[in-house]
Amino acid sequence: MKGIILAGGHGSRLHPITLAVSKQLLPVNDKPLIYYPLSALMLADVRDVLIIALPGDIPQIRRLLGDGSHLGLSLSYAEQPVPEGLAQAFLIGAEHIGDDDVALVLGDNIFHGNGFYDLLATHRRDLDGCVLFGYPVTDPERYGVGEVDEDGRLVSLAEKPEKPRSNLAITGLYLYSNDVVEIARQVRPSPRGELEITDVNRVYLDAGRASLVSFGRGFAWLDAGTPESLLQAGQYVQTMEDRQGVRIACLEEIALRMGFIDAEACHRLGARLSRSGYGSYVMAVADEMRS
Ligand code: TTP
Repeated sequence: MKGIILAGGHGSRLHPITLAVSKQLLPVNDKPLIYYPLSALMLADVRDVLIIALPGDIPQIRRLLGDGSHLGLSLSYAEQPVPEGLAQAFLIGAEHIGDDDVALVLGDNIFHGNGFYDLLATHRRDLDGCVLFGYPVTDPERYGVGEVDEDGRLVSLAEKPEKPRSNLAITGLYLYSNDVVEIARQVRPSPRGELEITDVNRVYLDAGRASLVSFGRGFAWLDAGTPESLLQAGQYVQTMEDRQGVRIACLEEIALRMGFIDAEACHRLGARLSRSGYGSYVMAVADEMRS
């Protein structure tokens, strides 16, 4: 399975913060926002990832993450000059996807909670069509909303509905069979001129090939699209990390635990950052695995 992080967009709800820097590079507590969606792909055992961003943002993101080889990953980059919809990811990423299935994650989405790894492994294995992940919210009219039958099969899908048929918001993590590229090619732009992912998902829904998996209570799904949600995300991560003594979305630790790199390599990565608490943590994790 290939991965795509969609990290374009103008981040206009965060202006003026994002006038000169990509939203995905803003700090969420101790690390840049893009670490969180990348960690989700890594936990899904996806190692070949395309990062799609505005042309002007790519050099900085590349400076941060490079070609990914230090983490046992293969990272590549592609431009989305204008944010013309989430489904454009499959057209820009067609060559990257090749003959594989694909996991798409939005660059400003944060997932955290028990059982995430198992959930991803299960749905990745049985993938035929698309798997969406839903999260119960109190204000579903602000989101894409999905309704499921008792088998978890998606039965309706609506974008920002006035009268939502469920409280399950569709989150920014999606798994697709390879035919998503062909389907995205056939979708027509919306009146706003965007290639809507909901239209792609509706093709799978109509074919009975779409499931919606609900994250349970106790799971956290956050996005960092506004000053309030960015701050809240940082506070959430800080609280969890301080209380539990473990770091969320620490890429070096995940790479080590997933077997992408060994403890020696992990320790070296931590040593480069040794003046920060993050770097000390990476070294400590490596030491623990070595002992
Ligand atoms: P949005 O939050 O919808 O858009 P944005 O990031 O440009 O922010 P704003 O609405 O404040 O202007 O996008 C969600 C994520 O998806 C974000 O990480 C950017 C990404 N995205 C793209 O990369 N390309 C696109 O065409 C769209 C619509 C979003």
